[in-house]
Amino acid sequence: MEVVLLPDADGAARTVAGIIERAIVDGVKTLGLAAGSSPLSVYRDLIRRHRHQGLGFAGIDAFLLDEYVGLPPSHPQSYAQVIRRELVDHIDLDPTRVHAPQGTASDLQQEARRFEHALTAAGPVGVQILGIGVNGHIGFNEPGSSLASRTRLKTLTDDTRRDNARFFGGIDQVPRHVITQGLATIGAASHLVLIATGPHKAHAVAAAVEGPVTAQCPASILQLHPHVTVVVDELAAARLEQQPYYRYIARHKPAGQGY
Ligand code: GLP
Repeated sequence: MEVVLLPDADGAARTVAGIIERAIVDGVKTLGLAAGSSPLSVYRDLIRRHRHQGLGFAGIDAFLLDEYVGLPPSHPQSYAQVIRRELVDHIDLDPTRVHAPQGTASDLQQEARRFEHALTAAGPVGVQILGIGVNGHIGFNEPGSSLASRTRLKTLTDDTRRDNARFFGGIDQVPRHVITQGLATIGAASHLVLIATGPHKAHAVAAAVEGPVTAQCPASILQLHPHVTVVVDELAAARLEQQPYYRYIARHKPAGQGY
């Protein structure tokens, strides 16, 4: 795991966008996209690279991490719609190659299995972008999620619903259920790139990166993966005990090592 400390959120977003660009240039054909607010500045930077630097997304398949149950893809807060609005509409990624669990499927368990199967068949995901919840969740894998979990139906904590109420008219409108990739599903991607910015993420980042591997902090599963980059701004890094070492690594990064 490499922990990359940047002075601010813009620098963090540029670094993550740069990792994705490098992967595409190197031939990666499958990307893992995350909703939530953390990756939005990454998507803006990818759009800029597409418009001004010729970064192309043709031929790439993209898989979303999760989706709210009960929201059709046309709902403004469905993750399918967020990804379309914030990224896909502005680049040359074929919308029919953007895959999301269907939150309005009549059989949600079956839909979770269908999505898992489609992802496994197309995978592995080359680069998976991740945010992190303040309780350490990734995707919608809340504390207590099995470290071996696959895509399935889950129930959100009220804390997460409260956090996400800002995107809806209030907590009552935030769905209680979701379909999310499991922790093992996420762990099957070749490269996991987590972005976290702001002081409210400092506790979760420290638990995920330097705490014990435990289902109580689902993001701690990153410690079991062979290729992880955690990109944080100063505020989200505030509780990391090994900060001096992470900075030392950055100062002495071997030429051409990349992320
Ligand atoms: C949401 C999403 C996650 C996201 C996290 C943090 O509920 N399911 O994929 O990483 O919570 O969200 P934000 O980036 O808005 O803080």
